Amino acid sequence: MIDQATIERILEVAPIETVIGEYVNLKRRGANYVACCPFHNEKTPSFTVSPSKGIFKCFGCGKAGNVVRFIMEHEQLSYVEALKFLGNKFNIPIHDREETPGEAETRLRRDSMMVVNGYAQEFYSQYLWKEPTGRDVGLSYLQERGLTEAVIHQFQLGFAPPGKNVFTRAALEAGYKQDLLTATGLSIHYPAQDNKPEVLHDRFQDRVMFPIHSLSGRIIGFGGRTLRNDKQTAKYLNSPESEIYNKSRSMYGIYFAKQHISKLQKCYLVEGYTDVISLFQAGIRNVVASSGTSLTVEQIRLIKRFTQQVTVLYDGDDAGIKASLRGIDMLLEEGLQVKVVRFPEGEDPDSYARSHNARETIDFLETNETDFIHFKIALLAGEMKDPLKRSSLIREVIASIAVVPDAITRTVYIEECSRHLDIEEVILTREVTRIRKKRKEQEGYSARPGIRPVQVPEEESQAQPVAPGKDDLSRCEKDILYYLIKFGQTSMDDVSVSDYIENALAEDELEFQDPFYARIYKEYKGLSGDDMSRRKHFINHSDPDISQHILDLLNNPHPINLKVLRDSLPLEESLLKEHVTKSVLVYKLNIVSGTCSQLTRDLQQAQMLGEEEKIQKIMKDLMVMMDVRNSFAKELNRL
Ligand code: CTP
Ligand code: MN
Repeated sequence: MIDQATIERILEVAPIETVIGEYVNLKRRGANYVACCPFHNEKTPSFTVSPSKGIFKCFGCGKAGNVVRFIMEHEQLSYVEALKFLGNKFNIPIHDREETPGEAETRLRRDSMMVVNGYAQEFYSQYLWKEPTGRDVGLSYLQERGLTEAVIHQFQLGFAPPGKNVFTRAALEAGYKQDLLTATGLSIHYPAQDNKPEVLHDRFQDRVMFPIHSLSGRIIGFGGRTLRNDKQTAKYLNSPESEIYNKSRSMYGIYFAKQHISKLQKCYLVEGYTDVISLFQAGIRNVVASSGTSLTVEQIRLIKRFTQQVTVLYDGDDAGIKASLRGIDMLLEEGLQVKVVRFPEGEDPDSYARSHNARETIDFLETNETDFIHFKIALLAGEMKDPLKRSSLIREVIASIAVVPDAITRTVYIEECSRHLDIEEVILTREVTRIRKKRKEQEGYSARPGIRPVQVPEEESQAQPVAPGKDDLSRCEKDILYYLIKFGQTSMDDVSVSDYIENALAEDELEFQDPFYARIYKEYKGLSGDDMSRRKHFINHSDPDISQHILDLLNNPHPINLKVLRDSLPLEESLLKEHVTKSVLVYKLNIVSGTCSQLTRDLQQAQMLGEEEKIQKIMKDLMVMMDVRNSFAKELNRL
């Protein structure tokens, strides 16, 4: 955690218009600035920056936040990373929470390993560009493959010299420790054996080098391609797994692609290093590769941080593709929308991009994109005439649909499938339901903890008066919080909105039940200053959840209970009193209704068990509560 004082220092010295101005072309408009939004494609500017409020907001795509949020979005960094980024830029030393000695050691070690990898990358690149062998063999190979100097530089490609230990010797001489060279896998240690002394050799010899970057751009490993054609030498040799390189969690190209994926809301998924680089050069920059492993859930979740839409680019023969179909189901299971492009026989994205110009490549991708249902059907179409195979194809497609978590999406897919396979929707739906049910049974009944702690069993909820769920109460609390944070210090007749709310809650001994809102409310009461400064406090809160929540709250007022409001946004302050009173009343009404339905349930139970005394007591309570409820309802009607 970074302490609040540091955050405030950063916000003080990092004016939002200066920071954002480095990324987009801001034009002054009155007290504010406008620009075309960097987060979605647009021609007329709807992206606004307000220096006085310290926030940006796009009226096109709805993205909004303070300067830290901007950096998080634009650089695709976490909250803490974004603060560090700004701190670094404006020379503010960042005081992190004290780390334990163990944590510090791990961090230092990982850091040192990445430093060694950085050194290796520079060494290999120097060798590629400066040394005769590097230039004649490595550079000319890359250029023959059609890569431009710019893209070779951008991806920091290099060449590992031939010879057993050219790199290792240089690294040791430059002061890098043996232990780190072996930990990163750059060097391999062979212990002494049969009179032969121990040796330290280069893992990568005589290979074109592809550095693998972490999400934040540091080098965690390498892939090395041999230029030899003999069968004995593996075409690619990769860094081993290590403390910094976890194959199943990293994706090649993600560092370069992340901002494009996020902006275009789409990610192309390819197989190899060269596919990523060639497409990038052709201007398709939202592309990553799973590189050498079959797709993993961790990789999918990494993509999911940036977009929900993935287009898988397939090459190769039917057999190869069928073997990789599992990848599609995994993407679907994670709730992503999956499209597919298939390349002509014998072509991969890299070879296609090389033999066509950028426009043609982009057109090819756009015109050949199909959803996974068409793709599966087309793939298996050869087998369609045989009735037995046809039914197994149908099962295949249905199985894919059944893994999709979202019900609406499943319905859309079922419609598609019904059209293409000429089977009635009801039949497909029934089958999908059957598969899902079966899988649930196999998984056993596992309630997900933490989502809805109290759940009324289904049959019961129909028979009973419907109690307001936790969600409804939270929503009411959110409404109240909205007025508090937006207008708390504004006067409403002769009390301030915040005093009114405080009194109204105290009157019935109510406290916010949602712990998150309760926390915000408590903190609000401890603040001083006007509405503006209190809002700033929350918008720039050290807890990013609070900061984001308050921003959302302010940007999307939540007038679900107040029909009038929906029609009269923005809220006129003259209506304030009515709205605040209403939302407090609605909140109370909700709470009382909840109590009433609980009492009704208790009553029925007591009656069933024949507990006479209890019945009497509950009846009395219930009468009182119903009275209260009615009086709230009446009051609400009067307003
Ligand atoms: N790969 C690997 N180890 C291998 C072979 C392949 O890690 N022994 C990974 C690499 O990431 C490679 C990808 O699988 O980029 C796809 O392999 P392939 O199609 O053989 O390589 P290309 O990327 O097409 O390389 P090139 O065009 O240079 O042959
Ligand atoms: Mn290739």
